[in-house]
Amino acid sequence: MSEVAAAITARGLVKTFEDGLIRALAGVDLDVGAGEFVAVEGPSGCGKSTLLHLIAALDRPDAGTIRVNGRDLAAERDLARYRASEVGLVFQLDNLLPALTASENVQVPMLERRVSAKARTEEARRLLALVDLTGREHARPPKLSGGERQRVAIARALANDPPILLADEPTGRLNTEAGRMVLALLAELQRQRSLTVVMVTHDRDVAARANRVVRMVDGRVVGEAAKRVLATLLFTDIVGSTERARRVGDAAWRTLRDRHHEAVRQAVARHDGIEVDTAGDGFFMRFDSPAQAIEAARAARAAVGALDLALRVGIHTGECEVEPGGVAGMAVHIAARIQAAAAPGEILVSGTVRDLAIGSGLRFEDRGEHALKGVGGRWRLHALV
Ligand SMILES: Nc1ncnc2c1ncn2[C@@H]1O[C@H](COP(=O)(O)OP(=O)(O)OP(=O)(O)O)[C@@H](O)[C@H]1O
Ligand SMILES: [Mg+2]
Repeated sequence: MSEVAAAITARGLVKTFEDGLIRALAGVDLDVGAGEFVAVEGPSGCGKSTLLHLIAALDRPDAGTIRVNGRDLAAERDLARYRASEVGLVFQLDNLLPALTASENVQVPMLERRVSAKARTEEARRLLALVDLTGREHARPPKLSGGERQRVAIARALANDPPILLADEPTGRLNTEAGRMVLALLAELQRQRSLTVVMVTHDRDVAARANRVVRMVDGRVVGEAAKRVLATLLFTDIVGSTERARRVGDAAWRTLRDRHHEAVRQAVARHDGIEVDTAGDGFFMRFDSPAQAIEAARAARAAVGALDLALRVGIHTGECEVEPGGVAGMAVHIAARIQAAAAPGEILVSGTVRDLAIGSGLRFEDRGEHALKGVGGRWRLHALV
């Protein structure tokens, strides 16, 4: 993390409950750079919420240190002010006060500052507009849907403009559509405001959007926590899987899919440093260089080809310090090279259309679904966001 300023640095965090009987955190180290979007995943009870609560200074560690924007939390005198202005927290359950209106809920963190009621109301109105809840300012939580409540919670977390947003499974209890909306909103806010985001999630699609995925098991960060993932390939494979399932029957389809995943896993296992994870009909690969991405794409495509299945490749970028055109430009660059290396096919690249167009050598054509056409190329790119 050389050029990027550290937003959060945790060292040796230990947290126990019930007189030491429960060890929620057993020595966690975590580094999050300013402006980074880090996903935290791991089984239930592994300590994810506890970790966020410590970073948000809602609780204190038994041992270890947390520095946020260079300041040691243990030495912080005014924790109320810290909570109100340095970090925004979106809880696992929305935690809104049911007796207050949406607007009043959003104003709660502002009470830490000396702001007039009029300014608070105006600020709450602006924040609720940001999460697309204009007109619902006076609704109380029981009258709001789960997705709407979670959006109020995000607006509340953004009150006072904190540089860091901590989100604890913000989409965990929402249906797919509402979850997607909340997630897209968070990703957009992160990008627009250069927010540092740490998000707990069990959802692989969510994790794939992050710059980096940190895994926790039994109160520790494990695996590739420190590795900076350059990009994640998301093979949303098996185009038309629903239609295919209908044709061959669900059980036969699952068997085919599992065989397919296994074939890809084996093909990719021969390449060092590439991780594969299956997720529903698709699978993810993580790698840390474009060369690895291309190897992964080739191997996967060969394996899939052997099973006569169509494959779509999605790329989610993480770090990109080497290519002009920013992170998304890098995604397109990798996509183009994969395309050149592998057979023609569709490539899905996540990122905004504007970013994708920058430095990518691509021309943007809006055809409702944000299709991008390669200039003089044979391939198509769809922007997912
Ligand atoms: N206040 C508390 N008192 C006692 N035990 C606690 C407390 N908070 C958490 N724990 C325990 O600490 C461990 C870690 O809990 P934590 O809530 O951090 O898990 P998590 O990873 O967020 O799980 P989930 O995915 O289910 O939300 C669990 O065993 C939990 O039961
Ligand atoms: Mg939790």
